[in-house]
Amino acid sequence: MIHVILRKKLSYCVLAFFLFAIICVWKERRKGSYYEDIKLETEEFQVVTSGERLAKGSGSQSSVSTQDKNSQTVGSARSSAKAKVEASFQVWNKDSSSKNLPSRLQSIRRNYLNMNKYKVSYKGPGPGVKMSAEALRCHLRDRVNVSMVEPTDFPFNTSEWEGFLPKENFRTKAGPWGRCAVVSSAGSLKSSQLGQEIDDHDAILRFNAAPTASFQKDVGTKTTIRLINSQLVTTDGRFLRDSLYSEGILIVWDPSIYHSDIPKWYQHPDYNFFKNFKSYRKMHPDQPFYILRPQMPWELWEILQEISPEAIQPNPPSSGMLGIMIMMTLCDQVDIYEFLPSKRKTDVCYYYQKFFDSACTMGAYHPLLFEKNMVKHLNQGTDEDIYLHGKATLPGLRTIHC
Ligand SMILES: *[C@@H]1O[C@H](CO)[C@@H](O)[C@H](O)[C@H]1NC(C)=O
Ligand SMILES: *[C@@H]1O[C@H](CO)[C@@H](O)[C@H](O)[C@H]1NC(C)=O
Repeated sequence: MIHVILRKKLSYCVLAFFLFAIICVWKERRKGSYYEDIKLETEEFQVVTSGERLAKGSGSQSSVSTQDKNSQTVGSARSSAKAKVEASFQVWNKDSSSKNLPSRLQSIRRNYLNMNKYKVSYKGPGPGVKMSAEALRCHLRDRVNVSMVEPTDFPFNTSEWEGFLPKENFRTKAGPWGRCAVVSSAGSLKSSQLGQEIDDHDAILRFNAAPTASFQKDVGTKTTIRLINSQLVTTDGRFLRDSLYSEGILIVWDPSIYHSDIPKWYQHPDYNFFKNFKSYRKMHPDQPFYILRPQMPWELWEILQEISPEAIQPNPPSSGMLGIMIMMTLCDQVDIYEFLPSKRKTDVCYYYQKFFDSACTMGAYHPLLFEKNMVKHLNQGTDEDIYLHGKATLPGLRTIHC
């Protein structure tokens, strides 16, 4: 009798174990599904017309090179194996358009275009001006003035602000550096094991509340500059308390109305972060903490609009794009991690939080899609580096010849 009960128990255990194993295998397969998606898309695109490419999928160059390789190789088995290898480096297509967005994000983009919260009236060249990567770099260098609000700028020169802005100029505190890293906050950094590689840079820029503690293996440990938005400074109670912010140079940015100068912006900031800025400065008087000139994001936005073939969201560029631009002016070379998504691409928004939304990769409020097109256009690294490490490499603007 006991023997029978034991056998029954044992068989339940075995059954439970098999169920568990099946669930594990299923989860692993789901992890690989982005890779699978890409492969599928690639195969489809060999027959589909060129206009149909998806933003996250095939780039036109890779498709062409796949076919070139095919025609050169003898033996159909070998050529199809080669095509598979090429296909696995399919990355962000620099000609992605809003048509590639899921319909929900398309309608959000249209709403922002209609809303025009910042009263944007772009009168410059474009849209759709074609520029070589070299010409674009020179354009960025000459048109985007990466600088901070100065203690001499009205109203920061009044007694109310005396002693609150750092006395030393930003450029004497930051750079020039050789190799720099810009670490996005993307969910795809999770399990990337990029920490060591990231720490191996001369300077590292991070964003908002992105932590290093508990994530060192994936994102590294050092922070040289932290770029934060005014919303965080204004509304997140932890900003004044969290030791996360006490390493490196802080820069806060706040969106202004298009073409506002500093005095006009000061009267109507997007978030009134000034009180908390002053409180933080009182608590940490020795930490450099700058305010980005409110014109700078729009100077960058204008170039994005100029080169994009359609109307981009009339909202300021993302913190990510601003951070990339800041480092390009301070460094000889900028390695950007998971701004162009790797094979780990996920709808999980941040590596340190659990919520997910495709807008975090594709953009809703920010013209993120067009920013990614620009970074891909400027990239001097390989598609393999993007695919495997989420790494794009842009040259700094200090040493270029125009
Ligand atoms: C950039 O802005 C700063 C601060 O307003 C100004 O002093 C400087 O002349 C500007 N540089 C260029 C190249 O426009
Ligand atoms: C602050 O700057 C404004 C504009 O440049 C100037 O008119 C004003 O006199 C300055 N105020 C002080 C206290 O220096």
